[in-house]
Amino acid sequence: MDLGITAWEIDFFSRIRSLKRQALEQYLATEEARRSAQISLVSEVARVYLALVADRENLKLARSTLRNQQEMYNLIKKQVVEAVMDAVGQDFPVGYRFLADEMLPDGLQLEETRVYASELAKRGVAYLSVMVGTYDSFYLPEYKEMEREQGYMVKFAHEVKAAVPGTPVIAAGRIQSPEFASNIIEKGEADLIGLARVLFADPLWPKKARGEIKEPIVACEPTCSLCMQRVMKGKPADCSQWSKERRESFLKSVGQESLFP
Ligand SMILES: Cc1cc2nc3c(=O)[nH]c(=O)nc-3n(C[C@H](O)[C@H](O)[C@H](O)COP(=O)(O)O)c2cc1C
Ligand code: SF4
Repeated sequence: MDLGITAWEIDFFSRIRSLKRQALEQYLATEEARRSAQISLVSEVARVYLALVADRENLKLARSTLRNQQEMYNLIKKQVVEAVMDAVGQDFPVGYRFLADEMLPDGLQLEETRVYASELAKRGVAYLSVMVGTYDSFYLPEYKEMEREQGYMVKFAHEVKAAVPGTPVIAAGRIQSPEFASNIIEKGEADLIGLARVLFADPLWPKKARGEIKEPIVACEPTCSLCMQRVMKGKPADCSQWSKERRESFLKSVGQESLFP
């Protein structure tokens, strides 16, 4: 039968019998304080532990929901690709702008996107043009740091290329010098080179690269993000490397009066 008395309590009563009144009061006060501290400590630990268990469960649920949504998203995108290819016919090459890594915590990463790349290759896309980052990651300090480097997306293109032998892969990412571009192709890191900002800063880049114009290439400034910032705000992109007159005349032509509206 359970008398509801713990070993600790039995010891407690046998001990107090031998104490004088004042000593007993002191002893009880000390014991009471110790006991209530112990109880509150135990209950605090239990509370924190239960909260941790609940948080872990929520995290598990959130991860599995995210995974399901990503699978669904990929499925829809694959169906879109098939629908586009059906609509344009066999003779029309359909390439795919491919986001290899969202550069976000819990975002899509190469591990998943390489699988998706091979699914697209199986469906016969003409090429994969690899990029990384989204409007949400473009503002992150680590992304800003990374994108200053010439060819910062090449390693991602290389990883994607390994997953899709037979499908041409385009690498981009502030590829400034023709020599750097040739090197990527020679090393087999990608099959084609994409230029966006670099051409924006110097539209004569290809002619200068081929030696048809003997002038230095105007570089895209690695610390600059003006064109992208403007696009993200829904404004026409202009380039900080253009002359003041050129920028102003461009902005006028698209209906904006000044450089800093
Ligand atoms: C002003 C601007 C607008 C862009 N718009 C798009 C776009 O609409 N769709 C897209 O897939 N990439 C877009 N990009 C990304 C480029 O296609 C390219 O992948 C990226 O800028 C990296 O190449 P780069 O370093 O030579 O600029 C844009 C880039 C810039 C600078
Ligand atoms: S605006 Fe800045 S980032 Fe954009 S192309 Fe010109 S120099 Fe490069």
